[in-house]
Amino acid sequence: MKTKLHANKLRIHNKFENIVVEINEVENDIVVENNDIVVENNDLVENDIVVESKDGEEFKFIDMFSGIGGFHQAFLKLEKDIKFKSKCVLACDSDKNCRAVYFDNYELEPHPNIKKIDEKTMDDFDALCGGFPCQPFSNGGKKQCFKDKKGLLFDEIIRIAKHKKPKFMFLENVKHILKVSDKKVIEYIKFKINETGYVLQLFEMSPHLYGIPQQRQRIFFVCVRKDLYNDKDIELIEDKLNKTAEDILEEKCDEKYNMKQDVSKVLHAWDELIQQFDENQKMSPTILINDAFRNYSDEEFKTLANWRKDYMTKNKPILKKYKKIIDKWYKKHKELLLKREVYGKLEWQAGPLKKDDSIFNYFIQIRQSGIRVKRNKYFPTLVAISQIPIFGKVKRHLTPRECARLQCFPENFKLSESDRASYKQFGNAVNVFNTHTIIKSTLKHYGYF
Ligand SMILES: C[S@@+](CC[C@H](N)C(=O)[O-])C[C@H]1O[C@@H](n2cnc3c(N)ncnc32)[C@H](O)[C@@H]1O
Repeated sequence: MKTKLHANKLRIHNKFENIVVEINEVENDIVVENNDIVVENNDLVENDIVVESKDGEEFKFIDMFSGIGGFHQAFLKLEKDIKFKSKCVLACDSDKNCRAVYFDNYELEPHPNIKKIDEKTMDDFDALCGGFPCQPFSNGGKKQCFKDKKGLLFDEIIRIAKHKKPKFMFLENVKHILKVSDKKVIEYIKFKINETGYVLQLFEMSPHLYGIPQQRQRIFFVCVRKDLYNDKDIELIEDKLNKTAEDILEEKCDEKYNMKQDVSKVLHAWDELIQQFDENQKMSPTILINDAFRNYSDEEFKTLANWRKDYMTKNKPILKKYKKIIDKWYKKHKELLLKREVYGKLEWQAGPLKKDDSIFNYFIQIRQSGIRVKRNKYFPTLVAISQIPIFGKVKRHLTPRECARLQCFPENFKLSESDRASYKQFGNAVNVFNTHTIIKSTLKHYGYF
């Protein structure tokens, strides 16, 4: 284990004890030996210190459900920032596009199916990493939970952990996992982790709390093998970035990232309407403009879904207040608004209208539920389905490179040749900075540096 420290007071942890060494004369060599730790300082330059473990072994990890390697990137960042040496000894993902990107970036070919990995013949490793598939748990998915057999891929992690007993496990999933199936899922996970011999600490994280302009609430599971557990909670290190939405943007990008013609037209149409509304106008819930002009009979109205009836009822005051304006506007754009169901639904989530407000001051996503307009401080969560956000200010979709930046992958990360695959991959990936914070805090707490 190697790391560079900049301090004239050197605090060395090994796994079980703390030793504090004061360094005053930096010209001298310093060697401190304690069980399995040697600190050597042969050619000290001011406070530049190298901490090296006796065996000099790398920290080994496996990257399960590796995707494009968000966990792997977090370890690489540790190496880059503090020279902490690690090595990925096995990756695994069933998606061939992910495997291709993984190989391109890390020169390691992931195994194609976790179920086929034989835990009895695996090499040893210190940590198991895994953002296990979240489709059955996330709001974006169908919430089938354990009925969907993918939900049970978590059991594959347990199968491997039971046999290999790594020191740590770093797992990740959507926040919703805490609630789903009346909390039965999270109870099951907690039970299994404990039964396998690990102490679990949960962390709720989102890039936007760490100076990265993406809102993405995720749960990290840090599991520490019981014999190593030191009875103290891990405290997260406070490092933050300071990036704004503008920092994420590419200066120039291909025209293919422009909005589709119809989307552009429909957004401009809605914008025309909004500009005629008063300042401070409340815009929720979703405005269902086509329903407002459909003249349902009482009988028909009764047969509508409850949410639709509710929204239509709540839309009445705004429709009444701007009746003249809306009638004229709808007549002009009716054909376009009826072209796709979503075009007629404005899901404004950006608060009351501001003076001279515009839809293009915000992030926009064309979703099944409507044209969603969100505040522009944070990009909406990247998801693995094709609702690539439009950044209103530049009137275009995010590019794959911009998605990579939002997920804190480095600039030299090699992207998939397919944009579609890239969007999916970054939508599925862990945020590298958040993951790095989790791993660094844990390893620091357990005396690795
Ligand atoms: C939430 S993503 C993980 C993303 C990853 N943590 C990253 O940073 O890119 C889950 C991954 O599990 C993979 N997967 C699903 N079933 C699998 C299986 N049976 N064996 C291996 N991987 C599987 C999917 O292809 C997907 O890439």
